[in-house]
Amino acid sequence: MKRIMYISTTTRKLTDEEVEAIGRKSTVNNAKVGVTGVLLSANEFFFQILEGQEQDVEGVMERIRKDPRHQGLLILKAEYEVTHRLFGNWSMNTVRLDGMSDMLMQAVRIMLENITETHRIIERYTQPAVLQFMTEGINPLTVPVKKTEQVILFGDIVAFSYLSGLFPVEEVAELVNLFLDITSKKIAKHGGQVTKYVGDCVVAHFPPDRADHAINACVETLQELQVLRQTAGQCRLQKYLYCGFGLSKGPVIEGNIGSSIKMDYTVLGDIVNLAARLESLTREIGKGIALTEAVRDACSESWNFVHTGDFNLKGQNATQPIYSVNDPAVADMKSFQEISAIVSELCCELN
Ligand SMILES: Cc1cc2nc3c(=O)[nH]c(=O)nc-3n(C[C@H](O)[C@H](O)[C@H](O)COP(=O)(O)O)c2cc1C
Repeated sequence: MKRIMYISTTTRKLTDEEVEAIGRKSTVNNAKVGVTGVLLSANEFFFQILEGQEQDVEGVMERIRKDPRHQGLLILKAEYEVTHRLFGNWSMNTVRLDGMSDMLMQAVRIMLENITETHRIIERYTQPAVLQFMTEGINPLTVPVKKTEQVILFGDIVAFSYLSGLFPVEEVAELVNLFLDITSKKIAKHGGQVTKYVGDCVVAHFPPDRADHAINACVETLQELQVLRQTAGQCRLQKYLYCGFGLSKGPVIEGNIGSSIKMDYTVLGDIVNLAARLESLTREIGKGIALTEAVRDACSESWNFVHTGDFNLKGQNATQPIYSVNDPAVADMKSFQEISAIVSELCCELN
């Protein structure tokens, strides 16, 4: 048997009658398939435990996930090979914690509120891959390291250190958050995973058959930044927000790397370093994207690839052809020198 435990956030305040109706429906449905458990409800959240045969629990969970009355369903724990039930007598005992005078229930409500809040915070700080494992009921710490093929994306802001020295910290932080937000959303939209942020850099990986998607994520980000620059006021830092992306493809070590103090679920290898080198090269070639032959060859969309030259990149033992994509947003690139010249001119005017 399987036992699953989750929390979710209510999408609106439900009345007592509505919660009771969920309870009644659950009792009838769960009894039919031998699923037992408990559902605790408060104004802001639900906490539920379901237990039964694996396929039956998963069947019920599938319906629950689609229910618009809640969102942000987060699996706290999934147990497999459960031999005895904890709630064998309850098809779904539903308890509304708000408004209960029972002190013990109030303590349970406060405890669950805290757990929910803590998980929501941790969720924002945790890598999506780790959350994905947890959602599937897998303890991420037990996942073995493996060698996989990936498309690696490496992106960062042009002349960031220079700009960050000139503008107030709040504006600099806002700029980095904006860049990471736009890029990360495009990466997720195209089926990639954000591996990590390092300062203003974003590192992501895509499955090997998603080279087109990785390019799309970069092109769409560059297009959005172009619009942002055109609409930003003269003195806004966003006016100078240019970025470069390096894309490489090949074998990486994927998995838990870290210490007893902090663990990362990450990707390692020569290919990751290569993506970082390509990202630096974008300034030199004057294009927002630089990619390897392996990435180009893995694409099936008809990109208008341009050969930007053959480069002997640091850490690589041979010269290799590097490509970009012929697109107005990709061509709209500035070098460090160009950005610093524009900014210092503006600073002179303001002074
Ligand atoms: C927090 C929450 C918990 C729920 N738990 C269950 C459950 O244990 N069993 C169930 O059948 N439906 C449950 N539901 C309701 C389902 O989402 C769905 O509305 C219902 O299963 C549809 O049943 P029907 O197809 O028989 O109309 C729950 C809904 C919410 C919001």
